[in-house]
Amino acid sequence: MKIIIDGVSIQVSNEEHNIVEVARSAGIGIPAPCYANNRKGGCCKVCLIEINGEHKYACGTQPKDKMNIIFKRDDLDKIRKNRMIKYLEGESEPCNCNCGSGGDCC
Ligand code: FES
Repeated sequence: MKIIIDGVSIQVSNEEHNIVEVARSAGIGIPAPCYANNRKGGCCKVCLIEINGEHKYACGTQPKDKMNIIFKRDDLDKIRKNRMIKYLEGESEPCNCNCGSGGDCC
C-alpha cells in the first residue's frame, strides 16, 4: 500500500497503524504530543492533517491505499501551532488532555 503526503509517495509497512507512524518512517515529523505521551485516543488535536478537503487527526487515522494527505500548508501550520501552545499551556490544568474526555471538553 502507498499513501501520498505533500506530494511524496510513501510505502506503508504492516507495523504502521496511523499517519503519524507512516510519516515518521518517511522522515516527516507530524507533531503529535498527546500520542507521544501514550494518549492513543488523541485529545490535543495538534496532529491536524487534511484528507480530501477534510480535517483529520493523524494519530487516529489509519492509512488507506492512495490516500492523499496534506500536512505542510500555512493555514494548517498556524492551527497546529496554536493548538500546541494551548496543549503546552494546559499541561498543568485539569482539562486539555488531562480530564479523560478525549478532548471533547476543550
Ligand atoms: S497527537 Fe493526535 S490528537 Fe494529540
